[in-house]
Amino acid sequence: MAMRRTRILFMGLALLVLACGSTSGGGDDAMASGGSPGKALYNMNCTLCHGRDGKAGLNGAKDLTTSTLTKSEMVAIVQNGKGAMAAYKQLLTPKEIEAVVDHVRTLGRKK
Ligand code: HEC
Repeated sequence: MAMRRTRILFMGLALLVLACGSTSGGGDDAMASGGSPGKALYNMNCTLCHGRDGKAGLNGAKDLTTSTLTKSEMVAIVQNGKGAMAAYKQLLTPKEIEAVVDHVRTLGRKK
């Protein structure tokens, strides 16, 4: 129950950040290509375990920068969760999940 409440709180915060970001156009977003909404969503929902750069690996999380998964495989994990990672399909819309995954895929900077 406490977990569930935390998740709802997270979503509220994510929406707040999105709302603020779109009105004030923060300079931080200049780092991402065009200031993607996925970055804000990622920073709100994913950094606890994966860190801002995706490498943190806290709570048993994988290093996202070395992930070999395809985009659709990542989307499935974010939707349904895996191991210690929660499912996000109740918290984020399909569009938001796609945006977050797009951001994750920029972290690896694969060439
Ligand atoms: C509670 C900590 C936690 C949070 C928060 C979290 N993750 Fe994870 N994530 C994990 C763990 C643990 C794994 C490894 C799961 C396994 O393989 O057993 C993982 C795995 C992944 C993978 C698969 C990587 C691979 O190569 O196998 C992706 C992609 C991913 N997370 C993306 C995200 C995104 C995007 C978010 C935010 C929406 C997020 N995670 C939030 C803990 C977390």
